[in-house]
Amino acid sequence: MQIARIMQILEVAELAAIEAAKWNGRGDKVAADEAATEAMRAAFNTIDFSGRIVIGEGERDEAPMLYIGEELGRGGEEIDIAVDPLEGTNLCAYNRPNALTTIAVAPRGALLFAPDTYMNKIAAGPALTGRLHIDNSPAENVRAVAEAYGKPTSEVNVCVLLRDRHKALIQAVRKTGARVRLIDDGDVFGAIATAVPGTGIDLYLGSGGSPEGVLAAAGLKAIGGFFQGRFDFGSDEKAADKRRRAEEMVKGTSIDLDGVLERDALVRSDDAAFIACGVTDGEMVSGVHIDEGGSITTHAIIMNAADETVRFIKNTRRGKTGVIRF
Ligand code: FBP
Repeated sequence: MQIARIMQILEVAELAAIEAAKWNGRGDKVAADEAATEAMRAAFNTIDFSGRIVIGEGERDEAPMLYIGEELGRGGEEIDIAVDPLEGTNLCAYNRPNALTTIAVAPRGALLFAPDTYMNKIAAGPALTGRLHIDNSPAENVRAVAEAYGKPTSEVNVCVLLRDRHKALIQAVRKTGARVRLIDDGDVFGAIATAVPGTGIDLYLGSGGSPEGVLAAAGLKAIGGFFQGRFDFGSDEKAADKRRRAEEMVKGTSIDLDGVLERDALVRSDDAAFIACGVTDGEMVSGVHIDEGGSITTHAIIMNAADETVRFIKNTRRGKTGVIRF
C-alpha cells in the first residue's frame, strides 16, 4: 500500500485513539468504544478512497457504524478495511495496558469477511513458519519454539487470554515448563507481539474473536509472522445461526468453515498493511499522552507488507499553545 494512503489511514487510527483515550480508566467500555467508532468513521469519510468495511462493529442489523459492508470515503481507489476501533474495550475502561485502535487495509477482495464467532489461533514470529501447527499439542508447539530460538522450553513465553475455556490449555503449557503470560483482553496485541522482539512473547495460543484473528493475520503477514486459525462456532443454541451467517460471508471463497485457516487465506494480498495506535500505554506502543498546554501525543505502529517496513510513529498535535517534548 502506498505510503501516502497509509498516512491517511494512520490519522484515522490516531484520531480514534485520542477520542477513546478520553475514557481511559473511566469504567465505561461502551462509551469508549462508541467514541472510537464515531471518530474512526468520521475520519475515514474525509479520505479520497472507496473503503469497504469487511471487519467492523458487527453486521448491519446490529451496528449503526462501521458495520460489515459499509462503504466509506469520498470515492477513489477501492480498498477493503478491517477495523477494531477499540481493541480491548475493558483495557481502556480500566486503564490497563495495550488498548489499541486497529485497522488493516488491503486491495478490494483481499480480506476475509470474518463471522462474529470465536477462532482458535496460533501465532508466532517468522522463524516459526513451517514449524508449528494449530492441531499439534501445546507441548509440540512449545518445543518447536524452543528449538527455533535455541533456548530451553523453560524460557519460552506463551501468551494466552485469561479465560475459563483456556484452563486445560494453560495447564498443558505450564506442564512443558514454559512460562504463561496471561492477558485479560486484547489478543490482536498478543498474537502480533510474538513477532515483535522486545515484547517478551514467543507464542500465542488460544481462542478469541474471529475479527481479531483477521486483524492479527494482517499484521503478521506484513512482517512475515506465522498465523493459523480455525473457526469455533461453539455448541450452544446460537451455533447454527453463527454457522449460517458464516456460510453467507465466505460464499465464493475456498474457505472451509471447519478447516485450518492459513494466514494467507485470511489476508489474500501481499499489499496489506496493519496500523495500530495506542490508547493506553503498552509494550508495543505507548498510549495517548496529554501535555501542558494541551499537546496530544499519539504512538502508533505501521506494518506495511509492500515495502517491508515497520514504522513507529510518535505524533504530537501541539495545538496553539502546547509544548513539544523530545
Ligand atoms: P473487545 O475489545 O471487544 O472488548 O474485545 C477484547 C477481546 O479480548 C479480544 O481481543 C478477543 O479476541 C476477545 O475479546 C475475546 O473474547 P471473549 O472476551 O469473549 O473471550
